[in-house]
Amino acid sequence: MTITLIPGDGIGPEVAHAVVRVLAAAGFRPDWEPFSAGAGAVDEHGTTLPQALLDSITRNKVALKGPIGTPVGKGFTSVNVGLRQALDLYANLRPVSNLPAVSSRFSGVDLVIVRENTEDLYAGLEHVVVPGVVESLKIITARASERIAVFAFEYARRHGRRKVTAVHKANIMKLGDGLFLDTCREVAARHADIAFDDVIVDAACMHLVMHPERLDVLLLPNLYGDIVSDLCAGLVGGLGVVPSANLGAGGVGVFEAVHGTAPDIAGRDVANPTALLLSAVLMLQHLQEDDKAARIMTALKGVLASGHVTRDLGGTATTTAFADAICRAIELG
Ligand code: NAI
Repeated sequence: MTITLIPGDGIGPEVAHAVVRVLAAAGFRPDWEPFSAGAGAVDEHGTTLPQALLDSITRNKVALKGPIGTPVGKGFTSVNVGLRQALDLYANLRPVSNLPAVSSRFSGVDLVIVRENTEDLYAGLEHVVVPGVVESLKIITARASERIAVFAFEYARRHGRRKVTAVHKANIMKLGDGLFLDTCREVAARHADIAFDDVIVDAACMHLVMHPERLDVLLLPNLYGDIVSDLCAGLVGGLGVVPSANLGAGGVGVFEAVHGTAPDIAGRDVANPTALLLSAVLMLQHLQEDDKAARIMTALKGVLASGHVTRDLGGTATTTAFADAICRAIELG
């Protein structure tokens, strides 16, 4: 098996190296096809998103991606947005749950965000109507709403989840969010084994910071999904401890850390590889390597609970030492 690897910029190569070692310790040793993207690719390829990289992901179907710095200045599109558009990665998946020894205000959080990735206000359609008046177009289609709703219900079924909750503002945007909600309801009727309800996005935010443990799978259009998914990361300790996957048709998936390149600590062997490792676990589940995914999760939780953690989590372990401890725990387990 060949997998595209985008180590990324800043701390990206350090955390990617750590994760590749942990995967190998669990017996997952694909041929990695490494590529640069973003700022790192501009000198060599003149673009942040080289065609050879897109071809590699299309061929291999699966990529593991570290954080990427988008060069400052006009003319460079974000690699993350570019990848989603070029590969039609229509579903963003972010499971969010508490981890041992990762401090947070909440316990018992175990929810999943399913975010539509391709339309809504992110279609980038904006224009000046007259000076001082800008129109930004929010695009909602039945097709995109249906495929993300089907994705959410099928995911719920496969992962033993009880309920899907659609999040919207259909009381105000009666046509746009109304279409999203109606479509979710139709898809829910075809998946009667999974419970369904809906909630207005502002009320959803209140529920999330009062009783996050009551929520299960959240299904959202693009903009609300973007905002609510970071809110949910905050419920369990922040972007350093949550995974993310961008998934498209035909099994294509880009599994990524959602934190940035952390230039302040890059090159010092102190970065926490947990977010990318959790994303790699999602990748293993996607590849139906559930046994290896479970072994890594058990080892990661054991090492976190032991307190031998990187300094962002209050410990003194280096990136290398933390990864070594996880590898050892896998081998002993
Ligand atoms: P950042 O996430 O890189 O850093 C924010 C703070 O969190 C820093 O103090 C950093 O040291 C810390 N941090 C982040 N990841 C960490 C880790 N794994 N272990 C330990 N500490 C960690 O956000 P910032 O500074 O806003 O962005 C820096 C660069 O990253 C920018 O060029 C931005 O464009 C890019 N970026 C890329 C993303 C991606 O590729 N998914 C997402 C967000 C930002």
